[in-house]
Amino acid sequence: MAVLKVAHLGHPILRQVAEPIAPETITSPEIQRLIDDMIATMEDEDGAGLAAPQVHVSKRLVVYGVRNNPRYPDADEITLTVLINPRITPLTKRQEEDWEGCLSVPDMRGRVPRFTKIRVEAYGRDGKPFRFDADDFHARVVQHECDHLDGHVYLDRMRSMETLSFLPEYHRYWLERDEDR
Ligand code: NI
Repeated sequence: MAVLKVAHLGHPILRQVAEPIAPETITSPEIQRLIDDMIATMEDEDGAGLAAPQVHVSKRLVVYGVRNNPRYPDADEITLTVLINPRITPLTKRQEEDWEGCLSVPDMRGRVPRFTKIRVEAYGRDGKPFRFDADDFHARVVQHECDHLDGHVYLDRMRSMETLSFLPEYHRYWLERDEDR
């Protein structure tokens, strides 16, 4: 497994619509190696998720999972999951705002509205289709990662740039305020 270089905002690949992966090629050594390398990269960077365009591969593939993650100390655990050619359907009109960050937008946080309940249909790394419902933080992570496949970053989804913060300022001014609420 290899840790791959992460593309930062400004790299055109982050703004492209990624190509679907032919389902019959999912179990090929090339795609399986890409999945393993993306998981290694996500873990190396302490990310909650990673989309293939973020490692300079314009394919519809995301990995995510949260377990003992220092960047998300208070987050619920999320099982390590691989989604290929994912499709998201909102199961509610309700959106909630919460903080997000992105490995392609280093050292920043901002508040982003996301649907609180979604249905996800995708192929797994075994090449088989599967579906599940996700809510709250899990739904947020899936929506954030799948946005990357359509050339979107979380900044595009923010209702206002007023909360956009560098990490030290986020910790100093916003995190305390959140805890006061
Ligand atoms: Ni991201």
